[in-house]
Amino acid sequence: MPFEKFDLAGKTGLITGAAGLLGMEHAAALLESGAKVVLTDIDDVLLKAAYNRLAKNYDPVNILMNVMDVSLLENIRRVAEQLWQANVRIDILINNAAIDPKVNDSNGVFESSRLENFPIDQWNLQVAVGLTGAFLCSQVFGAAMAKDGKGGIILNIASDLSVFSPDQRLYRKTELPDDRQPVKPVTYSVIKTGLVGLTRYLATYWADRGVRSNALSPGGVFNEQGEDFVNRLSSLIPLGRMAKRDEYRSAVQFLCSEASSYTNGQNIIMDGGRSSW
Ligand SMILES: NC(=O)c1ccc[n+]([C@@H]2O[C@H](COP(=O)([O-])OP(=O)(O)OC[C@H]3O[C@@H](n4cnc5c(N)ncnc54)[C@H](O)[C@@H]3O)[C@@H](O)[C@H]2O)c1
Repeated sequence: MPFEKFDLAGKTGLITGAAGLLGMEHAAALLESGAKVVLTDIDDVLLKAAYNRLAKNYDPVNILMNVMDVSLLENIRRVAEQLWQANVRIDILINNAAIDPKVNDSNGVFESSRLENFPIDQWNLQVAVGLTGAFLCSQVFGAAMAKDGKGGIILNIASDLSVFSPDQRLYRKTELPDDRQPVKPVTYSVIKTGLVGLTRYLATYWADRGVRSNALSPGGVFNEQGEDFVNRLSSLIPLGRMAKRDEYRSAVQFLCSEASSYTNGQNIIMDGGRSSW
């Protein structure tokens, strides 16, 4: 049985930010492997839409959903308590929620994405969701995995920008002076690099309790971005293109199953070879 170790029957995976582009793919990956999923997101309208889309292709019995804000510990504890009351044990936690800081188009007047101008409230919000949120969810769900001795898996969704700096030339607008050029904000690099540190810490902390932790670092997913941006980014990638949204599913299946039983504390970079150039 070559794929026996990928079988997730009897397991339940909770995904944060599950209503987004990749969250849905992570959910589909686990469902394909036979797991139940708990979709969580801060946005209940998007969450229901995600549920409806997944329920068309997978047995709805295996799909649960809870509104959950990863930046609020009490919120996370409430969801954990509800799941516990319903006899749902979380075997897999995918820390995926993030606020993707869009590169602004400020009409060249004041570019808030630039480091010199970057607002502290945006820094605090983005760190609270993308990094502190992963810590809080690991604290609640990871601790429960460790406590009952059955172990589990924590997968942190980082980014190729956890291993290299954003190439700000990708966002450059020829008509603007240097001090008004939009950039990929500093928060993204800090959060994603921090997630790799969290991954390594968790990988050792509960290793003796059977909890493994790894990070997955995807490269950019094609999602109808402008042609100019797509061409610029593709030219930095040896495979010559951005990722398709479903190309990370098999890595999620590997990292969330016994197939990766000896993989712990790693950052798996899937970037079409970009970091090799
Ligand atoms: N899409 C890409 O090209 C790409 C590339 C590399 C890494 N990633 C990473 O993959 C993950 C998913 O990205 P995506 O493209 O699906 O993003 P997305 O913006 O489509 O989804 C993010 C989800 O997080 C939710 N969210 C925001 N704040 C929240 C909070 N406080 N609590 C709970 N949920 C909250 C949003 O409602 C949204 O549904 C992110 O960590 C992102 O940084 C994405």
